[in-house]
Amino acid sequence: MLLGVNIDHIATIREARGTNYPSVVKAALDAEKAGADSITLHLREDRRHMQDQDLYELKPLLTTKMNLELAPTDEMIEIALDVQPQDVCLVPERREERTTEGGLDLIKNYNLLKDACDRLMAGGIRVSLFIAPDIEQIEKAIMMNVPVVEIHTGHYANFKDRSSKLKELNNIKNAVDFAYKAGLVVNAGHGLHYDNVKEIVEIKNIKELNIGHSIVAEALFIGWEKAIKNMKKIITMNTIK
Ligand code: PXP
Repeated sequence: MLLGVNIDHIATIREARGTNYPSVVKAALDAEKAGADSITLHLREDRRHMQDQDLYELKPLLTTKMNLELAPTDEMIEIALDVQPQDVCLVPERREERTTEGGLDLIKNYNLLKDACDRLMAGGIRVSLFIAPDIEQIEKAIMMNVPVVEIHTGHYANFKDRSSKLKELNNIKNAVDFAYKAGLVVNAGHGLHYDNVKEIVEIKNIKELNIGHSIVAEALFIGWEKAIKNMKKIITMNTIK
């Protein structure tokens, strides 16, 4: 199982003061050195962390791959087609949310999302859809002909009581299984940290986990590269072949 490191919150610290530090380029390159398999970033409509210029600076320097998270709007699709990241993960976005709170609704927004996927794929970009662990959503992703889905682990991460957590873990397992058997590449992420990631790593057939907030938080105390190496170690040690 691979680790995609989300560097949005390096930019959050920079934007909090409008400075030019900490450098998102250094964060990305050091993450790659520490073992990140891809670099994930989210260009939000309100530009609260990543800025357009960050994408253009980072793209030619990355030696792994850029996974760009975007809302399916015309503006974002045009930027993606111009920047040409290897991967785009389409996510829902609401201005007032603190972070991406749920998955895309592929049933309700089928035509809009299908059109967004078609435009990005025609531009040579590998498209992923960020969805809840729900079989009906996966069926729609298959109909859209996307190669990748990312399963939302945020509810699993947020549940406090063990029985709700286990129920959601089971939903994730079933969703991964269904999507994998249908031939999709299956990624997962959101809300994962050093304590809860193990149960997700133990699920077979997840290709990559995208993790950001907990790694940035841990880096405050032990350093950026060490925080990434430690996460990578947990993933490597617990992956079931
Ligand atoms: N995957 C997706 C699609 C996301 O939107 C995010 C948050 O930007 C993540 C993974 C990473 O979540 P976290 O920062 O909670 O690790």
